[in-house]
Amino acid sequence: MNIRDETSSDYKAIAEVNREAFAQENEARLIEQIRDSDRYIPELSLVAEAQGVIVGHILFSYIDLVGEETLPVLGLAPLAVRSQQQRQGIGSALVQAGLAKADARKEAIVIVLGHPQFYSRFGFEPAISYGIESPFPVPEDVFMVKPLQHYQDKYRGKVVYPPAFHGV
Ligand SMILES: CC(C)(COP(=O)(O)OP(=O)(O)OC[C@H]1O[C@@H](n2cnc3c(N)ncnc32)[C@H](O)[C@@H]1OP(=O)(O)O)[C@@H](O)C(=O)NCCC(=O)NCCS
Repeated sequence: MNIRDETSSDYKAIAEVNREAFAQENEARLIEQIRDSDRYIPELSLVAEAQGVIVGHILFSYIDLVGEETLPVLGLAPLAVRSQQQRQGIGSALVQAGLAKADARKEAIVIVLGHPQFYSRFGFEPAISYGIESPFPVPEDVFMVKPLQHYQDKYRGKVVYPPAFHGV
């Protein structure tokens, strides 16, 4: 299994992986909307490929953290692994590869809404313990952050998702 940056020739396969893993269209549409926006970071859209076939995908893009100032931070969404290939470490490998690239880009923090049992293994913690609030009511343990090496205390406030996320 190989992890690499997406290219435009992967777009169709990435949409398929997301449709299959989530059993709905929303995430595939979200990815397209993010790509069409100024919040897209091509090198943080990664695919997992096995024998030339895309079996997983992860996307990190900019969302806003609004406190005393408005700061762009990374939002991790979506993450998908084809159901037949789940529980083989592919999702974990995608998260780890993405976090390493985010760190290398000197990003400060990653925000995710997801399964606490899964994301806590990569050091994600409830966002509220860092003074970061969700824009909508969710259980505290599912709205998480992973501070990276360049994290500073100024990263506090309320998350605002850009228009690409509306309707998801
Ligand atoms: C979540 C997902 C990306 C994990 O990918 P994966 O390749 O299966 O992950 P890994 O093999 O690296 O790790 C598997 C671990 O994920 C956890 N996990 C997977 N799906 C989970 C779920 N629905 N709820 C809670 N934990 C889950 C389990 O703890 C599992 O560990 P175990 O095998 O020791 O029990 C994959 O299951 C998926 O695409 N699911 C459908 C889409 C989705 O929910 N995406 C996540 C959005 S936050």
